Amino acid sequence: MAQNIPKDFIDNLLERANIVDIIGNYIKLEKKGNDYWSNCPFHSEKTSSFSVSENKQFYHCFGCGAHGNSIGFIMEHTNKTFPEAIEALANTLGVEIPRDKETNKLYETQKIIHNCLKDSQKIFTDQLKVSNQAIAYLKNRNIKGETAKVFNLGYSEDSFQSLKVKLNKNYSESNLLDAGLIAKKNNNSYDKFRGRIMFPINDHNGKIIAFGGRILVENKERTEAKYMNSPETKLFSKKKILYNLHLAKQEKISKDYMFIVEGYMDVIALYQAGIKNVVATLGTAVTKENLTQCFKYTREIICCFDGDNAGEKAAWQGVENIMPVIKDGDVISFVFLPKDNDPDNIVEKGGRELWDQQIRNKISIEEFIYRRFSKEFDLSTAAGKTQYLKRINSLLNNLSAKILKNMLLVSLNEKIGSKYDETKDNSSPKIKQKKYKTTSPLQKAILILLHHPNISVDEKLIRDNHLKDNIGIKIIKSILELTKKNKNMNIGRIIENFREDENIYSSLNKISMMPIPKYDFPDKEFHAYIYLVIKNLLKDKLDEIDPSNLEKTAELNREIREIDKKSKNF
Ligand code: UTP
Ligand code: MN
Repeated sequence: MAQNIPKDFIDNLLERANIVDIIGNYIKLEKKGNDYWSNCPFHSEKTSSFSVSENKQFYHCFGCGAHGNSIGFIMEHTNKTFPEAIEALANTLGVEIPRDKETNKLYETQKIIHNCLKDSQKIFTDQLKVSNQAIAYLKNRNIKGETAKVFNLGYSEDSFQSLKVKLNKNYSESNLLDAGLIAKKNNNSYDKFRGRIMFPINDHNGKIIAFGGRILVENKERTEAKYMNSPETKLFSKKKILYNLHLAKQEKISKDYMFIVEGYMDVIALYQAGIKNVVATLGTAVTKENLTQCFKYTREIICCFDGDNAGEKAAWQGVENIMPVIKDGDVISFVFLPKDNDPDNIVEKGGRELWDQQIRNKISIEEFIYRRFSKEFDLSTAAGKTQYLKRINSLLNNLSAKILKNMLLVSLNEKIGSKYDETKDNSSPKIKQKKYKTTSPLQKAILILLHHPNISVDEKLIRDNHLKDNIGIKIIKSILELTKKNKNMNIGRIIENFREDENIYSSLNKISMMPIPKYDFPDKEFHAYIYLVIKNLLKDKLDEIDPSNLEKTAELNREIREIDKKSKNF
């Protein structure tokens, strides 16, 4: 979809937008020296290591490495897709996005679905007000009127045509199908949600995107599921959404920790008991998307599971999902409630106090892994221990957080009296983690050009025959083309121009994370690196040729000396 918005338009947006204002709309920035600073919104920290450069139109966190331009910031911070971020930016700047037909159509469909859901929510909440049966159900479950209001609870009438008839003035049948509100069988369409308490599901901004519905009376003769969610639509993807995130993230305590529970009713019951930093998955195990999203707002996620086998199974799947996305500094722990209990009936029995008591029993991720594997293997035998260590290794293999990985390996090894040898594992950090790998001269040259796009470059040198097929040089040439066209280029805009070329884009992103020293003469440094690249290429050639080929050897040595001389005289 990204290709559908013209590149020129995107570049023009970045030219107009000032990253300091854009980011300033989301977090408070403080000017220190040339740059603006703040606590990093992408990881939790006490001192500010998040910097925004007005000159470069780029942000960079020296703590976690997050970086990018205005569009990247909006995507990361508000969890938007690329086109959505462009749209947000365009809105902020008051410009219209030129769209092609296809994007336009998707955009229109989403808008209709959204309106349709909003209207349905109104219908459902109105119906709740007049349904004695639904009110009695909620009363019976101790849900107060004001709580029902906070969550916009509603009621869908127990009829196949109720909602459809109410909406058909403003929406076509295909609109309602797109919105997932009706189903169609043999040419007959009918309401999907019937006789259910309706839970609107919102995205993290609070916009309604789907519904969940709980059956009022569990009738053995009818085989409907107790809970039902909207199907996947152009607005709603179940695995990406956490129920109540839009409200939970606003709670101050959420910065410290957030609970993930299994059900809508659990969220609501806890809310009523004054515990508001709670979200729920929508009948799935905790997904990668769930965790990534939650960790944007909190330091610790406490996953709470019902005390039964299904609970443990769901929890374990969560652990496996966590591995690739957990970052150093993220904390994740688990609570297993007593058998046959869920958060809802815990607070019903003992209120907040009993809940707090349960939470005190939370276990760390390593404890959970250990418990699970120690059940699986006989750890009193050497063979069992070996299997245990193998499993640990393959599980933690997916963990990209280096410090955490090391900690877990050490502690999980210690648990069975085995010593983990850190030196064997070259992926483990030695005391201080080195975030930026040492770089090649060519990467350094690109880094300088990104930060100083207006230096004057000796193009003849860039076109040197030895550099002909070099991919890095190709990148440099493309950057030079951009800066030639436009003198106001900056790192933010340059990188944006390569978004569609996956390889170059990711290389440039990596390079842009590297710290750059303050150069008095960046052009001189740039050329020195290019000369070094050529020299290294010549040296490689020298290593490759047969030393008895005196003529060739002499020629290469001469070329090397020449390069040295040119470099010195630059
Ligand atoms: P539970 O069966 O634990 O229900 O399902 P609950 O939350 O305790 O519900 P009450 O207390 O009986 O009302 C937990 C979650 O799993 C999903 C729903 O999201 C539910 O909130 N679920 C459950 C379904 O999607 N379908 C089902 O049939 C059951
Ligand atoms: Mn329950």
